[in-house]
Amino acid sequence: MKLRKLAVAMTAVMAFGAISVPAAAEETQVIGISMPTQSLERWNRDGEYLKEQFENAGYTVELKYSDNDSSQQVSDIQNLLADNVDILIIAAVDGEALNTVMDEAAESEIPVIAYDRLIMNDATSYYVSFDNYTVGQLQGEFIVETLDLENAGDATYNMEITAGDPADNNAGYFYNGAMDVLNPYIEAGTLVVVSGQTDFDSVATDQWDTQTALERAQNILSSYYADGTQLDVWLCSNDSTALGVAQGITSDYAGDNTVIITGQDGDVANLANIVDGIQTMTVYKNVSNESIVTLALAEAMLNGETIDEAFTESLSVEAAFDTESYETSDGVKCPSILLVPSVITADNIEELVDTGLYEMGEDGYLTAVE
Ligand code: GAL
Repeated sequence: MKLRKLAVAMTAVMAFGAISVPAAAEETQVIGISMPTQSLERWNRDGEYLKEQFENAGYTVELKYSDNDSSQQVSDIQNLLADNVDILIIAAVDGEALNTVMDEAAESEIPVIAYDRLIMNDATSYYVSFDNYTVGQLQGEFIVETLDLENAGDATYNMEITAGDPADNNAGYFYNGAMDVLNPYIEAGTLVVVSGQTDFDSVATDQWDTQTALERAQNILSSYYADGTQLDVWLCSNDSTALGVAQGITSDYAGDNTVIITGQDGDVANLANIVDGIQTMTVYKNVSNESIVTLALAEAMLNGETIDEAFTESLSVEAAFDTESYETSDGVKCPSILLVPSVITADNIEELVDTGLYEMGEDGYLTAVE
C-alpha cells in the first residue's frame, strides 16, 4: 500500500539524524473518489458526505465527477492513480467499462471499493451498497399492498413500468426485485401492462435521465391511454425517472390524478411531489450512512484488519455482510456490505427530518440540511 511520503530531501536529512519530524506530518493518506455525475441529486450528496467523512478522519480527498461519461471516468481514475491515491472509491457510470483502469489499479496495488454500483472487474476489493434487490421488492410490495391485490377478486389495474440505466449493474436488481413481486399478479391478469412493454430492455432509461423517462411516458400515454383508459400504477425504479413520469402524467393523461408512482432515493423534488400527492412513495437510501460505512471499511482495509460479519456488526449503521449475492465475473464473488433501505410516504415523511439530514419548512416541504 502506498503512503504519501515527505520530500526526499527531508528524508535524507532525517537519515543523518539532523532533525526529527513530527509523526503526523510524515504521511497523509489520500482517498481518490470517482462519482458518476452531478446531474442527479443523490451523487452530489454522496460526494459531499464522503469528502466530509474522510477529511474529518484526517485523510486528503480527491473527488471527481465524470458527467455520466465512462471515458471521462476512465481518465478521472487514471489521474487519481497518477496522484498515488491510497485507495479508490468508485461509483461507476458503466460497470462494464472500467477494465483497463481497474487493471492499472491492480498493477499499482491500489485497492478499490465499488461504491453503490458494482464494477464488473475482479480487481474490485469490496462492494458497499444498499440491498438493491430489496429496493425493488419494497416497490413491488408497496403496489401489492396499496391496491390490496391479494383481495382484488375480479378487479384489474393498469400499470406501466420505467426502469433504470442498463449500464448500471443495480438497475437489473431493482427491476427484478419489483417484478418478482408483481409478476404473479400480471400473470393472473390482475395487473395489466396496457402498453405491453414489460421486459427490461423495453422499459430501461439510459442514464436514469428524467427527460428520457418523460418522453417515453408521453408516448405511452398518448398511444394507449388517450381514449380514456384508466392508469392505476407506474412502477418507477428511482426518483429521477419518477419525476419524468409524473410530468408526463400531468401533461398527457386526462384521467384522475390518483396514479400510484414509486421511486427511490428521496430527492428533494420527489419529496415535494410526495407531500403534494403526485408521487406515492420513494425507497429512501440514507447516503450519509453509506459514507460512514465506506469510511469504516476503507480504514479497516488500510490498517489490514479483517473484514467480515463481526466487522460489519461492529459498524454504527445497520448493514449485512454478504459474500454470495454479487459477482464481479462468473463465479468470482465480491464481499459486500449492504445497508438497509426504507419506504417513505406522505405518512412517515417526517422520519427524514429525524435523520437530521432534512428540515421541514412551514410550507411542509423538505429541504436538505446544508
Ligand atoms: C443507482 C443508485 C440509485 C439511483 C440511481 C440513479 O445506481 O443505486 O440510488 O440513484 O443509480 O443514479
